[in-house]
Amino acid sequence: MSSILISGGAGFIGSHVVRHFVNRYPDTRIVNLDALTYAGNLENLRDIEHLPNYHFEKGNILDRDFLAGLFEKYQFDGVIHLAAESHVDRSISDPLAFVETNVIGTVNMLQVATQAWKGQMDGKRFYHVSTDEVYGSLGEEGFFTEETRYDPRSPYSASKASSDHFVRAWHHTYGLPVVLSNCSNNYGPNHFPEKLIPLMISNIRQGKPLPVYGDGLYTRDWLWVKDHASAIDAIFHQGRVGETYNIGGNNEWKNIDLVHQLCDIMDELLGRAQGTARQLITFVKDRPGHDRRYAIDASKLRNEIGWEPSIRFEEGFRMTAQWYLDNEAWLQDVISGNYQEYYDKQYARK
Ligand code: NAD
Ligand code: DAU
Repeated sequence: MSSILISGGAGFIGSHVVRHFVNRYPDTRIVNLDALTYAGNLENLRDIEHLPNYHFEKGNILDRDFLAGLFEKYQFDGVIHLAAESHVDRSISDPLAFVETNVIGTVNMLQVATQAWKGQMDGKRFYHVSTDEVYGSLGEEGFFTEETRYDPRSPYSASKASSDHFVRAWHHTYGLPVVLSNCSNNYGPNHFPEKLIPLMISNIRQGKPLPVYGDGLYTRDWLWVKDHASAIDAIFHQGRVGETYNIGGNNEWKNIDLVHQLCDIMDELLGRAQGTARQLITFVKDRPGHDRRYAIDASKLRNEIGWEPSIRFEEGFRMTAQWYLDNEAWLQDVISGNYQEYYDKQYARK
């Protein structure tokens, strides 16, 4: 039986990747390694945890001995590395945590995989999941391609850019068979409500202010999270070793237009009069160093591997809003406790 290690599998994207692989490859052992930080939640995987090819291991990628033991125990053929600190606002208030997990944690993963696979790299694969934020910020025109110069501008994107460089360095220096992808903003079920879309859904439901940063004209390219999981599968199996692939939704939205759309869908789903939620919109102090626009050119992925997003945003948006309404207990669980403290601090800044 072949074995794949997925790090960060209890998080938002990781849980969709784990589910996708566990269901699609029943003869492959899928090991989910996660430290269960505030962002990791095993509730995300309740529906598949009983399946025989799924295994969970609680542990931290900063613990190299633990990682080496895991490679010894499961004899992995492949790694899909998602574990990371992922929220830009948190990286501004606590940058060191991002350096530790995203940079040092990634180097630990690279080192342990290289040692475990020494002399037998054939058929192995180390997949590093990264972000379009490494490319910096676009003006009104243009797209990020795989050749765009790196220009990270937040502690989060700098830590991810650094990790990408280390992954490529391990390929060139030690021959580790790596593949990378840089993806745009994801949305969908199980998204932690510190991020724009689930935060807005949660606040609309509670009748709380909807905090839009700055002038609200910042642009993001949104991708349905299950499409990201299918792209990762395609690249893991068909991507060329040493290559990088951009993944995007071809789906740009200015934040304020997206929030308006979400307000209208939520009013409809909650049976409230149209316009009710829009009254909650509040423009707040901008994020420091806020990147103006991200947009991905995913033609390399489309042309080489044939992958394309499967659903339209309007459909995905509605399914996402409905998922949060149907899963109130999930939301209540994650917005209690420590998250409440973070929220009060983050949105009290004026
Ligand atoms: P997330 O914050 O929801 O999940 C991260 C997971 O990693 C959590 O389960 C957490 O417990 C785990 N983790 C954190 N530190 C760890 C450590 N030291 N050891 C072990 N596990 C640890 O993040 P996400 O949004 O699902 O993002 C996953 C990956 O995809 C990240 O690498 C991120 O940079 C990348 N990415 C995210 C997006 C997006 O829109 N969310 C887009 C492109 C790329
Ligand atoms: O582009 C990929 C990246 O997308 C990932 O690498 C990151 O892990 C992920 O968090 C995401 O980063 P963003 O900063 O783009 O996502 P976020 O949801 O935090 O913010 C989206 C936009 O909405 C951004 O322009 C900031 C704005 N925003 C966000 C919050 C939380 C607001 O206006 N108000 C808010 O309260």
